[in-house]
Amino acid sequence: MAQTEKAYWSSRTAFILASIGSAIGLGNVWRFPYICYKYGGGAFIIAYLVSLFLAGIPLLILEFALGQRIGGSAPVAFAKLSKKFAWIGWLAILVGFFITTYYAVIMSWAANYLVYSFKLSWGSDPKSFFFDKVLGLTDSIANFGSIQTHLVIGLIIMWVWIVLSIWKGAKTVSKVVYFTVTIPWLILITLVTGGLTLPNAFEGIKYYLTPKWSMLLKPQIWQAAFTQVFFSLSVGFGVMIAYASFLPPKSDLVNNAMIIALSDAATAYVGGFAVFSVLGYYAGLQGVEVAKVMKSGPELAFITYPEIINHLPLAPLVGVLFFLMLLTLAIDSAFSLVEGFVAGVMETFGTRRGRTNIFVAAVAFLIGIIYTTGAGLYWLDLVDHYMTFFGLFAVGFLEALVVGWFTDTEKIREMINAHSIVKIGKWWNVAVKFLVPIASIVLLLSSVIGIIIKPYGGYPRWAELVGGWLLLAIAVILAIILGKQTVKALKVKSSEG
Ligand code: PHE
Repeated sequence: MAQTEKAYWSSRTAFILASIGSAIGLGNVWRFPYICYKYGGGAFIIAYLVSLFLAGIPLLILEFALGQRIGGSAPVAFAKLSKKFAWIGWLAILVGFFITTYYAVIMSWAANYLVYSFKLSWGSDPKSFFFDKVLGLTDSIANFGSIQTHLVIGLIIMWVWIVLSIWKGAKTVSKVVYFTVTIPWLILITLVTGGLTLPNAFEGIKYYLTPKWSMLLKPQIWQAAFTQVFFSLSVGFGVMIAYASFLPPKSDLVNNAMIIALSDAATAYVGGFAVFSVLGYYAGLQGVEVAKVMKSGPELAFITYPEIINHLPLAPLVGVLFFLMLLTLAIDSAFSLVEGFVAGVMETFGTRRGRTNIFVAAVAFLIGIIYTTGAGLYWLDLVDHYMTFFGLFAVGFLEALVVGWFTDTEKIREMINAHSIVKIGKWWNVAVKFLVPIASIVLLLSSVIGIIIKPYGGYPRWAELVGGWLLLAIAVILAIILGKQTVKALKVKSSEG
């Protein structure tokens, strides 16, 4: 019943585009450029590429192997390795689910800004416009203020968009990604081309890329590089496992992984030109250093960029393009997370596709309302910090540990190579057994220790307990309970078959 509803990619291109769509996201335009500049410019790119080849690509190949060779969404793939491990798959997709609850809210901000762009509604003070008018931001995380209706409306539209994009699973996604991947690429190229023609653009680029080689000796740059690689490749949330499970049996996993990883890296690199060219221009206008106007994350997109747009020729058009780019970049990352979760639910409970989509979206939407309140930005920031580092490092660690040490790694390598033109050598075993787990556990521990010493973002301890540790505890407990269900479902299926 549920099995017959499983959909496959319409072509290899569709799979590659969908995975690229998941990988390229806000991380490429508002995280990578900033991190790159902060950690040594051109030198960071070296660290990034090293991390990508040593840990990122091996982990991506591993996730593809779990999904396509072992077969199934994250919970099922892990349950098939051993019933002891089903919970790891659930943990990955539960963390992914929590991420979608706020990812969609960020998209709602972008959707609102898309509308504002037409009239440059942010006016001459984009900062107070964002904080006061758009977010209705309160003075503390304990003070929820009021729900912002325009954000809720945006959120509803985003969820409808997400559900429609995955309506029949990979079958629908196969069509959607032709637009949601190419549109942001085209816009990005347009923005870079326009940006580079502005006065002082190259001052900005110089800031972005001038290598500070001595940085390569600092551990922080490596920590930043590994984190960015994992985050950007969308590994650790069960997304790539689910996506690979919709591939036909004879797929070339290695080649696909390379194409996806390199496209993602290239997009991030080009994203930097879009950001730094206009920052150079803006710093020139203000007569200050580029460093002074550099921001990352929401502030870059929703305050600095609008501010700069005010000074640009073709202002409303640039705004529309920019926020349309953010939206189309984010949508396929958002629905990939939802799809990874929905696939896990369907394969465990045998539920129907349409109903599962709607149920998951409705629950995520309701949770998301918290982020549309006056304290929303605080909670979003806090939850994001915990979910990402935990998802990336704890799940990445567990995945590599299981495949590296509790299964026949060599056999999995052979399974991967069976249909791959470029074969992976024994180095992959080394990466999976040592590099990925060591890098992940070091990053996990240093994050945890960091938080224990100093609460993240200066939020009060109780907020940290609720938005961080409690949420993670819920994820772990649910994962254990649901993992048992997955094992049961597999038993029933094998006794039927
Ligand atoms: N890779 C996305 C980005 O760079 C973020 C993301 C992570 C999306 C995990 C889905 C899953 O923005």
